[in-house]
Amino acid sequence: MTRGNRQANHSRRWLLRSGLAAGGAMLARPAFALTPSPRQTAGPFYPDRLPLDSDNDLVIVGASNARAGGVLTHVFGRVLAEDGRPVPGARVEIWQCDAFGRYHHPRAGSAADPNFQGYGQTTTVTDGAYRFRTIRPVAYPGRAPHIHFAVSGPGFARLVTQMYVAGEARNETDWLLRAVRDEAQRRSLVVALAAAPEIEPDSLTGQFDIVIGRELSGG
Ligand SMILES: [Fe+2]
Repeated sequence: MTRGNRQANHSRRWLLRSGLAAGGAMLARPAFALTPSPRQTAGPFYPDRLPLDSDNDLVIVGASNARAGGVLTHVFGRVLAEDGRPVPGARVEIWQCDAFGRYHHPRAGSAADPNFQGYGQTTTVTDGAYRFRTIRPVAYPGRAPHIHFAVSGPGFARLVTQMYVAGEARNETDWLLRAVRDEAQRRSLVVALAAAPEIEPDSLTGQFDIVIGRELSGG
């Protein structure tokens, strides 16, 4: 190999490593970038007052022995930056309707299941992980089953989004989910729920990772 060839090879490797495409054009995103979670509306049912019990177990309220109606569901995941770094110390909030499609909210009209918390919050740990014990979301008029999420923390703007359930026919007609035009972003909101007898009898589990896009962290 001539010296000139070696130099050409070296600079080509450098271009590839540095994320510069042939011709010197910068790629839109580095090759390792994750798909940022799209923003979705908070809707009208974010609690007007946070419940006294707002921990990450939504199926038991306070010291009650009664459990919320619905299918027990363990939702877990990680909050990540676009480059894959975990985001510890982020506050993750969820809210959703009860097993009969009713929200805990004055605007909801009818009273919701008193044994369902309706809202919960937690903070991500070192590896960005969070988890909630809740119920499988159900449909209500005009909407596919979904859980509302809000993620906030130091260094980035609050991200409000929603999680949907894989295999739900209503996903095809849900106007909010369809409004996410980017297919990868839309798919990132749809979570497969699987039976999880190893966690708890008759429960489901699903993983919903949330990616904070660079525009939310001012990057
Ligand atoms: Fe909703």
